[in-house]
Amino acid sequence: MLTHSLQLNPMTSPKLIIRDLYKSFPGKRGSMLALKDINLTLYRNEFVCVVGASGCGKSTLLNIIAGLEEPTSGQILLEGEPIDGPGANRGMVFQNYTLYPWLTVSQNVEFGMKMQKIPTAERQQRVKYYLEIVGLSRFADALPKSLSGGMKQRVAIARALANEPDILLMDEPFGALDAQTKEVLQEFMLQLWRQTQKTILMVTHDVEEAVFLSQRIYVLSSRPGQLKAEVNLEFDRDRNLSIKGTEFFQRKRQEVLHLIRDEILATA
Ligand SMILES: Nc1ncnc2c1ncn2[C@@H]1O[C@H](COP(=O)(O)OP(=O)(O)OP(=O)(O)O)[C@@H](O)[C@H]1O
Ligand SMILES: [Mg+2]
Repeated sequence: MLTHSLQLNPMTSPKLIIRDLYKSFPGKRGSMLALKDINLTLYRNEFVCVVGASGCGKSTLLNIIAGLEEPTSGQILLEGEPIDGPGANRGMVFQNYTLYPWLTVSQNVEFGMKMQKIPTAERQQRVKYYLEIVGLSRFADALPKSLSGGMKQRVAIARALANEPDILLMDEPFGALDAQTKEVLQEFMLQLWRQTQKTILMVTHDVEEAVFLSQRIYVLSSRPGQLKAEVNLEFDRDRNLSIKGTEFFQRKRQEVLHLIRDEILATA
């Protein structure tokens, strides 16, 4: 039945499937379980956030999907194919600014495509297109040191998108920004999502950010990180910052905050 409906509508087919994922790290006193029995699915063009207390395994989960860490057991399928190491079909944006300081903005955006040996003309076209999308065309020849934190993150997003990945992975991308810049970039993210139709998985410890940006939130329990709850949000794709003042928004925010607080209390 399910297979049948997926064939009828490719827009609802799963983009990313994680099955029975476990991750343990070697420790001084035996191994330490960081992620336990994670099962989740992301559908095409979904914007999903993962939230949870510090140290619950959020970054580990993202790093495994990115292929930067190996799972201890379990399966990850992207577009139906098992992932095996890092690859250009996943774009990653980290919290700390990771631009190459000696390269200009456009060279930074171009870098991954060069590694992939994408022809020069195509590279230049994509640099132009994605710098336009993130609103930084004017800064194409600037060096990262002359940019603000918010601008650096927009370059990092353009760089990730330029490889045209199947999924955009973001690990606390706005965590180092001041409150005002953060709100501006949150609205920017929604616009970018609508424009590019990307599937986005973002990790954040900022519950308000997760409720504002995503369509679904996975809440992880404290160590070992397990899926504790899945919260569905029903905001319009065209939402803007004004929804933060609505009763529904505040109710959802409280719901997620309580789930995380319970976890912290249980282990503090
Ligand atoms: N390479 C590693 N070797 C050993 N232990 C690790 C490694 N990476 C992460 N851990 C441990 O795994 C657990 C989960 O870490 P992770 O960084 O994924 O948490 P997090 O939810 O992203 O935390 P934060 O909110 O602080 O960013 C932590 O206890 C951490 O110390
Ligand atoms: Mg982390």
